[in-house]
Amino acid sequence: MELYDMHSHILPEMDDGADNVRVSVEMLKTLYNQGVKHICLTPHYYSHKESMEDFLCRRENCYNLLKPHIPNGIEVCLGAEVYVTDIIMNNQSMKPVCYGNSNYILLEFPYSTSFTGSSYDFLTRFMNYYSVKPILAHIERYDALINNPDLMEDLAYYGVKFQTNAVSYLDRGIFRKFKKLIRRGLIHYVGSDAHNMVRNSPSTYKKSFELISSKTSPDVVRAINHFSKRVFESAL
Ligand SMILES: [Fe+2]
Repeated sequence: MELYDMHSHILPEMDDGADNVRVSVEMLKTLYNQGVKHICLTPHYYSHKESMEDFLCRRENCYNLLKPHIPNGIEVCLGAEVYVTDIIMNNQSMKPVCYGNSNYILLEFPYSTSFTGSSYDFLTRFMNYYSVKPILAHIERYDALINNPDLMEDLAYYGVKFQTNAVSYLDRGIFRKFKKLIRRGLIHYVGSDAHNMVRNSPSTYKKSFELISSKTSPDVVRAINHFSKRVFESAL
């Protein structure tokens, strides 16, 4: 089965991910050898530290470094992991940092975010103002979400989708929590969030999907692939 990686820091010399093209290519090949043929490149975008224009310019330069070395058979999609602070609303559009040409956007919030009250209002306002479909990155890092499927269900009702990191499925405690979410259809995407060959290593990516399949159902993997394919198709 072909797999998708919806979150990675593979772009060389861009952020705290791959240091150089050699590392990027090793990461891509490691994923490809496990059947991951569709890979999203989602470097950190910190809107409070850098203008979107500067970020996009840097991203293009780093992508141009990698482009000639992307192994045959891998389809990549450029995106960003967008860190949300109040200042982000100063941007005119979020379209340039969505996945490719789609209106799906990978968002990261401060880990203490409650997703209730003002932060809930902010998220819904952000979605409506920019007409984007948010995908919350590595939801296991937010206590407010991972321990509260009802809140996640409420957010999902408004169109928010949820991404989990592949390495987290190797942790029994987290997997137990994921199972509850999976049962309620609250996990839509998986990504490696790989920063290099060590930090969130891409080398165990397939193993996570094998665990999902054996400990829940192969249908769950099919559903994750279905959601991921949709993003890719609208991104290209
Ligand atoms: Fe990340």
